[in-house]
Amino acid sequence: MVNRVLAACGALLLPLGALADDWPFMTFETAPFLPPQISVTKSGATDPGYIFVGPRGNQERGTAALIYDEDANLVYRGPQEVTANFKVQRLFNEDVITFWAGDMMTLGFGYGTVHILDNTYREIYTVKLQEDFLSPDGQPRDSFIDLHESHVTNRNTLLVTAYNVTQRDLTSVGGRPDDYMLDGMFYEIDIATNEIVYFWSALDHIDDIPFEESKQKWAEDVGSQEKPWDTYHINSVELMDDGYIISLRHYWSGFFVHNNGSILWQLSGEKGAGDFEIDDSAEFSWQHDIRIYNETEEGFVMNLFNNANTPTNEVAATTGLSFDVDKTHRTIKTLRVLNDTDDVIHSVSQGSYQLLSEETSHVVLGYGSIARVKEFDANNNEVLTVQFGEDNAVASYRGFKCQWKATPFWNPTLVAQRTGPESVQIYMSWNGATEYDNWAVYSSQYSDGSDPKFEARVQRTGFEAAIELTGLTSGYLQVTAQKGDNPLGTSEVVSLES
Ligand SMILES: *[C@@H]1O[C@H](CO)[C@@H](O)[C@H](O)[C@H]1NC(C)=O
Ligand SMILES: *[C@@H]1O[C@H](CO)[C@@H](O)[C@H](O)[C@H]1NC(C)=O
Ligand SMILES: *[C@@H]1O[C@H](CO)[C@@H](O)[C@H](O)[C@H]1NC(C)=O
Ligand SMILES: *[C@@H]1O[C@H](CO)[C@@H](O)[C@H](O)[C@H]1NC(C)=O
Repeated sequence: MVNRVLAACGALLLPLGALADDWPFMTFETAPFLPPQISVTKSGATDPGYIFVGPRGNQERGTAALIYDEDANLVYRGPQEVTANFKVQRLFNEDVITFWAGDMMTLGFGYGTVHILDNTYREIYTVKLQEDFLSPDGQPRDSFIDLHESHVTNRNTLLVTAYNVTQRDLTSVGGRPDDYMLDGMFYEIDIATNEIVYFWSALDHIDDIPFEESKQKWAEDVGSQEKPWDTYHINSVELMDDGYIISLRHYWSGFFVHNNGSILWQLSGEKGAGDFEIDDSAEFSWQHDIRIYNETEEGFVMNLFNNANTPTNEVAATTGLSFDVDKTHRTIKTLRVLNDTDDVIHSVSQGSYQLLSEETSHVVLGYGSIARVKEFDANNNEVLTVQFGEDNAVASYRGFKCQWKATPFWNPTLVAQRTGPESVQIYMSWNGATEYDNWAVYSSQYSDGSDPKFEARVQRTGFEAAIELTGLTSGYLQVTAQKGDNPLGTSEVVSLES
């Protein structure tokens, strides 16, 4: 049933609102947010960090970049918008938050901007791509960065993917001489200046990536500008020595692009295809998020998210895979298969593989069209599952666990509600703040909060804390978020009149 609905929509990202669900949401007195109430199950020791997701699907006020802790508390909600790739990365030796926001096309890609925030949530860089692009709806846009990749490199550049609509002769695959298709491109952009330092287009390499080999077959209902043929579906880019590795979902392959633009090898998940021989457990298809580690002259470790399923074809368990790639002998051996055998997932689109640390070897998989994030330990056992919506109704393109310390540039929020002539219920929160652990509550006779009188101390309890104060007739209140006795931020003064 679920499969049929998805197949009918034919979209790779999500049939928005196609499935009703009654997933619970959190509400607050101090903010108009409506994020999903996540459910967290732990079955072992986990690595430190917060859960970073960008859910979208069924309700606007939960469609935002979201951070949760492992006790299922909301920590941060970003602006209400469609996001992707929300995570912590290193830029100029600092931890920063990066995310894509923009228009998501029903065809399964997007046009938008990458936002980079510091640990006060100030936007310190805004990365845009303002080349001459054609989109399915023909609309001009301020920036054409695709949603799939926003990877900060160790040379402080940003690697992004891009999809352009263009016309080609597709008669070799059964199409028309003037059909529309999607090019698969990537850009390396200097973050500080927005200058393009590298550009590559799959259409310049049809000899190495022939149309005929796309697993996404041309069909009668594609080929218009509104619904171009999605030949390649580029979804990750990463630096390697002397070049880049890209993931083309529709070729079940990673391709190595040399700095001079040439494709030097293809690493296919299909036996007998590409330039490497793979072992039985190394087969993969419709993959996402190819990541490279420990590269030498002889080889490297490659990790990826193996969807193994499509909206029209449910085949096998979706897994996280890690490989030992031997460049000399052109062989691939499987190192790790991540599969929660108690909760086998078939993710038909999107997804991510994040190695949390080389010390613990823990991995976090984001399951894309399935609203779950799982952490696995060094023995490939599931130790954490976070669910943030109903499967196939809510999705987060990727899902991460990141360590993050932030003290927002905005003030904590205080809301006071009179509950009687001398009693007041107050609520306080500080969206995005990670460092405070308690609140100090003060009253004052003055609207500027001067000559404060200490009223109460309230422990941090999740996103929003509350306390009822008695014996207050009139005056003003103000709260301070503290770490121990150390004040980190103070709310506005709130009047008890009105
Ligand atoms: C995108 O394709 C259009 C043709 O449809 C072409 O005019 C334009 O130059 C292409 N843009 C890029 C950045 O290649
Ligand atoms: C790019 O470099 C590789 C490796 O040196 C070489 O085999 C290939 O021919 C070069 N391609 C171009 C277009 O120069
Ligand atoms: C890279 O090599 C080091 C040293 O051998 C090893 O500890 C680490 O686990 C390797 N990383 C990956 C991702 O395999
Ligand atoms: C994943 O686990 C399920 C349930 O045990 C099993 O049927 C399936 O073969 C496993 N798949 C892989 C690739 O390990």
